[in-house]
Amino acid sequence: MPQWLRWIGRAIAALVLLVVIVVAAVYAITTRHIRQTYEFPQSAVRAAADSVSLARGRHLVEAIGKCQQCHGADMGGELWVDEPAFARLAGSNLTGGRGGIGDWTDADLERALRHGVGADRRPLIFMPSEAFAPLTDGDLAALLGYLRTLPPVDRDLPEPKVGPVARALYLKGSFPLLP
Ligand code: HEC
Repeated sequence: MPQWLRWIGRAIAALVLLVVIVVAAVYAITTRHIRQTYEFPQSAVRAAADSVSLARGRHLVEAIGKCQQCHGADMGGELWVDEPAFARLAGSNLTGGRGGIGDWTDADLERALRHGVGADRRPLIFMPSEAFAPLTDGDLAALLGYLRTLPPVDRDLPEPKVGPVARALYLKGSFPLLP
């Protein structure tokens, strides 16, 4: 084999090795972020039930939070993307139906909305909680009260999955994977 061919072979091998190292590093760092658990003190905010608060809660959900854009027009959840190389992202079912938040306490919901952390204490994938963190206790009580009045929708959504492209874009700061 001529010398130059040997060098090209070595260069390709080095390049492949570099790509493997970069991909492994991206996975190691992002997996650590995704699996990290967070604890917050229990919130004392409870869902409101009076009609003025429920009307305010509906306004906060539909006009301010635009929750239905990701959680579906019926708030029963929606799968928007399922591309293995990118990610599988689904807004969860926020109604009391099967697959929904019926068994979540008000404190669980507060943690998800203000802190972006799920029932398993891990970050929610692609839920923009940083936008909802400034909600006052009164607004939050109204919003939770309205969520509790939504007609139940039975819909189970798949678990989120994060592929290499979404991980790399997140590390680059170009994709809001975690709140
Ligand atoms: C940009 C899209 C987007 C918007 C807007 C959004 N969410 Fe989410 N939300 C998500 C995604 C995606 C998840 C699922 C995260 C996961 O499974 O890790 C989620 C999860 C949640 C959860 C946790 C429930 C569960 O079963 O995982 C709650 C509660 C929630 N959102 C409430 C809201 C409310 C209330 C609003 C409006 C004020 C809202 N979200 C707006 C994308 C969004």
